[in-house]
Amino acid sequence: ARIGGAALAAALLTATQATTALAAPGNPGEPRYSAGAPSLGDPYFPDQGNGGYDVRHYDVTFSYDPATKVMDATTVITAVATQDLDQFDLDFRGPEITSLKVGKHPAGYRRDGQELVVTPRPKLKTGETFTVTVTYAGTPPVVTDPDGSIEGWVPTDDGVFVPGEPQGAPAWLPSNDSPADKATFTFRATVPEGVTVVGNGRLVSRTTANGRTTFVWDSAEPMATYLATVTLGNFVVTETTTPSGIPVYTAVDPRLVTQSAAAVARIPDILEYFSSIFGPYPFNQAGAIIDRAPDVGYALESQTKPIFSSAPGVGTMAHELAHQWYGDSVSVGKWSDIWLNEGFATYATWLWTEHSGGATAQQTFNSASNYGRAATSSFWQVVTADPGPEDMFGNVPYNRGAMTLHALRGKIGDAAFFTLIKDWAAEHRYGNTSTADFVAAAEKVSGMDLKAFFDVWLFQKGKPASW
Ligand code: ARG
Ligand code: ZN
Repeated sequence: ARIGGAALAAALLTATQATTALAAPGNPGEPRYSAGAPSLGDPYFPDQGNGGYDVRHYDVTFSYDPATKVMDATTVITAVATQDLDQFDLDFRGPEITSLKVGKHPAGYRRDGQELVVTPRPKLKTGETFTVTVTYAGTPPVVTDPDGSIEGWVPTDDGVFVPGEPQGAPAWLPSNDSPADKATFTFRATVPEGVTVVGNGRLVSRTTANGRTTFVWDSAEPMATYLATVTLGNFVVTETTTPSGIPVYTAVDPRLVTQSAAAVARIPDILEYFSSIFGPYPFNQAGAIIDRAPDVGYALESQTKPIFSSAPGVGTMAHELAHQWYGDSVSVGKWSDIWLNEGFATYATWLWTEHSGGATAQQTFNSASNYGRAATSSFWQVVTADPGPEDMFGNVPYNRGAMTLHALRGKIGDAAFFTLIKDWAAEHRYGNTSTADFVAAAEKVSGMDLKAFFDVWLFQKGKPASW
């Protein structure tokens, strides 16, 4: 579903919509069938996303055995056609497909890289709600990113670690893999008894029969595909509730319980503090998955269940929880805007550190890993609002992004700044937004012309000297 992101999705589509315009003219009201665009046009990941439809729900049923590494899956996608379609693509890098239907009818399909090209018969008319049922079996792949990091379906010594940012979801999920097409999700996962599956949202049921356990997880709020997880393995599960009543489900690898206890214990406090400055926690479930996935080496803000590939410190926990507001509920539509996720989550951590008695945000801004870096450092040579796919998870979107927010706060004052970031979370809740939207919102709340300010911090290379 494209909630609040229609303009942005439309902007991304302009390059590929030329294809649609070539459709033969017919009588007004007659369907004009054509192929949905094979891309949403994001220059960082040109294969990502597809045009011609809007996904509403993913229902994923699978079994998986960590011993054989074999997945048997059926995914049912519910979508609405946004044009008359005789063909559309899904993104899928997963194992062999054994059957594919659109509605009740077997459909034609072929695979070309991560494009799964589907030819539905009967064809689909604009506005029509349809289902795509894809059945597949085998071992999903590990996906390598432009920065060399891995994601997708990453086996661990007792299960699988499942991060998906920015392009890992199609490893195991046929999908419209763009943050601009959010949807709700249901996962029904069957594993050998003793293995725990942790997905996004709420644990609806857990039933064991004949030595196998089925976990059903339901994510009722819209979610970007890159935030989906079904991480599985041996976990110690703890359930608690925040002071404002949000259930917190925490799954920790038994070997990491002691090391991660301090960070886990602070989850309710962190969520309460962030709710006080960012507005209400955006989802009806919270939690964390702390696993041992040494080859991954990063954490990810998977919606309602951030995942950690090792025992996190309190700062990393705060970072991933802040993303629930900034990144998960309020999402970018194109990856060059990643500082809106990472700069906000990093700045939130500075605020948490100050709130919990550590360095002030000003001290962190001044430090050697931030503004204290020498002007000659290569750090200053990456553009914050367009870091490129290799540096999108490098220091700049995180630290220069957070510095941008701290400098903005100094520029417009505390009252305007905190109103801005709270309103930003409320106004774009469950939607997609952009750097241009943020600049406009900052100018509106402050009544100031901030073009030069944002130019220096976001769009120019070099260490800002004055702003
Ligand atoms: N968004 C994550 C975080 O900072 C980082 C994801 C990194 N992903 C990657 N493929 N390197 O919380
Ligand atoms: Zn982050």
